[in-house]
Amino acid sequence: MNAKAQNFFTHKATMFLVSFFAALAPVFFWACRSNSFIFIDKILFIGFCQVIFWLMVANAIFATVLAALRWRHSAWSMQAPKWGAVSSVVCTCLTVVFAIVNIALLIGLGEEAADMAFISAADMLPFLLAYLIAALLAFFFPAVSDKKLRVVIAVLIIAIAVFGALFAIYPPVHYKFMSDPMVLDNGSGYSVVFATSAEGNGYVEYEYEGKTYKVYDEQDGRIKGSSTIHSVQIPYEHLDNNTYRVGSMRVFEEYAYGGRNGRTIESEEYEFAPCTGEDLSLLCISDWHTRTKTAKKAISHLGEYQGVILLGDAASCMQFEEQASEFLVTFGGDITGGEIPVMFARGNHETRGEYATELSDALGMDSFYYETTHFGDYRFIVLDSAEDKADDHVEYGGSADYTAYRTRMTEWMESLEASGEKTLIVCHSPEISREKDLAERAFVKMEELGAPLVLAGHYHYCALKEKEWPLLTYIDGGHGGGDFTASLVTLSGDGIGLKACNKSGEEVLNKLVGWDGTVLK
Ligand SMILES: [Fe+2]
Repeated sequence: MNAKAQNFFTHKATMFLVSFFAALAPVFFWACRSNSFIFIDKILFIGFCQVIFWLMVANAIFATVLAALRWRHSAWSMQAPKWGAVSSVVCTCLTVVFAIVNIALLIGLGEEAADMAFISAADMLPFLLAYLIAALLAFFFPAVSDKKLRVVIAVLIIAIAVFGALFAIYPPVHYKFMSDPMVLDNGSGYSVVFATSAEGNGYVEYEYEGKTYKVYDEQDGRIKGSSTIHSVQIPYEHLDNNTYRVGSMRVFEEYAYGGRNGRTIESEEYEFAPCTGEDLSLLCISDWHTRTKTAKKAISHLGEYQGVILLGDAASCMQFEEQASEFLVTFGGDITGGEIPVMFARGNHETRGEYATELSDALGMDSFYYETTHFGDYRFIVLDSAEDKADDHVEYGGSADYTAYRTRMTEWMESLEASGEKTLIVCHSPEISREKDLAERAFVKMEELGAPLVLAGHYHYCALKEKEWPLLTYIDGGHGGGDFTASLVTLSGDGIGLKACNKSGEEVLNKLVGWDGTVLK
């Protein structure tokens, strides 16, 4: 190595920057891996990503030690021991390679998962900051001889520590509603669901038969205060053709004795109109995978609707509460204005991630498979196909027990009896159950119940399928190739109208299906 190169790699600034970027590497790698890239582990061996992660951590520590040595010994660059210069080059090269790996992973994640990776990275930010401050104080600070610079660095570190603690205790977030509420029909009543910009409690206020009600999002009398998603259970008859408002008090901390609360916000008044009668238009949306803006463009071309069927796959996973808040609750509120009911069928991507187990509770749903007769004169049976791969698939990391779940769902379905009402099946995946015997039992039961059609999504295209499954199946659309297809399902005595259009307003499909399951046009 010539003197110029040695001087560059052992320069104070170079080594400081290398140690900084080396510390960033494991944070971003972990954030990317936790949101995707299971295939890296699958190609080589399970846990390969753990090895890369720890290599990055080791490189970060190594870079910090080298940089500290350099900062403490000012003559090091010119008289560096050979191992010092070689180590600096190795460290710099590894850091550059790790940075390229991270940039490639971030690009490979795509827009949807990259957003989530940044949330993961933000969660690790306090640890990174603590590491950098500790390294700065222990290694670099004592080597600064300029008194003024020492004061500036000390003030900066104190300011970061003070503001960090202050923001942790008082998060600098303006407390507000994220959208209008989403009124979910959960099969036994309405669950009024809404999201706030920070944690707090939630309530719904209305008058019914001369009495004023203030109903909280609570569990056994204890009001929930540690969530940004709030769901309040209201009987059908209390909300139908009535007005209501939602409210929320910000909760900073819940103590065993007392608590620290913020301000209370209240919404405008909403007029809720239930779905009634035989003529009904329902908006159907599936597989929006965070593309709420393009979905709204497609929706804007479909005209009026009295209710909404959300067919699942709001995001690639439910790893964080933020995903459920933004892509499910806020989106549902935006497209309904809190004034019409919503039916929700869980998609396979809503079963993934840590928050997935909390989703039903957050939405105020006892079960993701249920029936409702509160959408006009019709009976809807909402099913949950859950995951689309075997329970032991590596993607689920040992967290799936869906065969048993779908067995319970099939048994529940078999307990239903035909009522003579016009019946429709709603399910994210048209295969209903990936187990052939369970799917067969489900389709037999659907025919017994007199259902002519399954409304489904999952495949990201729009088509009416007559032969693929035992029952006529409408695949709703969703996002694909930068476009989005949304559907309007029009129910009447004549049959089931299926109309779909894309974000430019072009008609993708227009069919009419009779109640006996024949395609009329
Ligand atoms: Fe799906």
